[in-house]
Amino acid sequence: MIKSRVVQNDIRKIALRIKKDAKILSGKTVLITGGSGFLGKYFLYTIWYLNKNLFSKPARVVSLDNYITGTKDNPFVNDENFKFIKHDVREPFYLKDRVDYIIHAAGIASPVFYMKYPLETLEVATFGTKYMLEFAKSKKVKSFLFFSSSEVYGDPDPNFVPTPENYPGNVSCTGPRACYDESKRLGETLCTIYHSLYKLPAKIVRPFNVYGPGMKTNDYRVVPRFLTSALKKEPLPVHAGGNQTRTFCYISDAITAFFKVLLSDKNGEVYNVGNDENEMNMMTLAQTVSGLFRGKLQVKSVDYPLTYPQGDPRRRAPDLTKIRTELGYKPMVNLKTGLERTLRWYKEKI
Ligand SMILES: NC(=O)c1ccc[n+]([C@@H]2O[C@H](COP(=O)([O-])OP(=O)(O)OC[C@H]3O[C@@H](n4cnc5c(N)ncnc54)[C@H](O)[C@@H]3O)[C@@H](O)[C@H]2O)c1
Repeated sequence: MIKSRVVQNDIRKIALRIKKDAKILSGKTVLITGGSGFLGKYFLYTIWYLNKNLFSKPARVVSLDNYITGTKDNPFVNDENFKFIKHDVREPFYLKDRVDYIIHAAGIASPVFYMKYPLETLEVATFGTKYMLEFAKSKKVKSFLFFSSSEVYGDPDPNFVPTPENYPGNVSCTGPRACYDESKRLGETLCTIYHSLYKLPAKIVRPFNVYGPGMKTNDYRVVPRFLTSALKKEPLPVHAGGNQTRTFCYISDAITAFFKVLLSDKNGEVYNVGNDENEMNMMTLAQTVSGLFRGKLQVKSVDYPLTYPQGDPRRRAPDLTKIRTELGYKPMVNLKTGLERTLRWYKEKI
């Protein structure tokens, strides 16, 4: 049962957009790492909905999480098609059951948390990916989806913004963000090696700032940060003048794209996932959030907190040509609608 109206609505829309390709999951087993996180839970909701409304035989889901940032309020614990296992993917994993698809989404995604847990962050994307690839190989899975990040591009040369998949990146292997961006890069390398050596059907996605219902209020990523400050009627804290740009992709668009990649035959390929229509700086984002409150909120420029890793990329925007042309993905939810939906969810929660 999905309690939130906003989430119910999102899931219905995702299901409509993927139902042709998703039928192949009927009767199959999908293992998802990081299944108790923001993106992971949306995968679970979607499969649950497809079980109820589309599949002739239900898909089974095995969700792995060590709850380092995820929450233990797992949905569907009483549903026989869902199994929740507490497991740290930095350790090898064994399971007797058949597994057909793997979504490897475990990771430490928020900069404040990867600064707090640098080794865990590095290891989940490297050891964790290696163990999950070994497991995938032993199960002869039909598809393996690795969650990399737009952070693999580092601080891109302005001539490469919007950034296409073949931009090699401008990152530091010793900088404060290296535990995240370098480990995601190595995770990608592992996927491509398993694909070329063993024909493992691995695909890679590089999400660009996905947001929406389910992001924890203490996640520290910018959208939940602004919305929770707004709900507390506190000024919106913009780091260092707020000139850094980002694009924002609403969760229902992102999950649609992730399923499209997972269910495609594009083995060994990498896809940017995001929304390419709204590159904006953080000051403008804060003003847009303030607009949801009829402009009654203050926006305040603050120094980066000490808990935040330095070297924030100046610009980040995806070139989505590849996923648009090869997989027919198109973002549908504009920023204002996405923010309103997210805000409605926070209000439902509170
Ligand atoms: N949301 C985004 O905008 C975004 C952008 C780029 C990349 N990503 C990547 O997508 C994935 C999911 O992101 P999210 O936004 O849902 O983050 P999240 O923090 O909400 O969820 C990640 C989940 O992984 C779990 N996890 C972490 N380390 C683990 C380990 N060693 N073993 C088992 N579980 C572990 C956490 O407990 C959490 O439940 C991550 O790999 C992240 O790096 C997300």
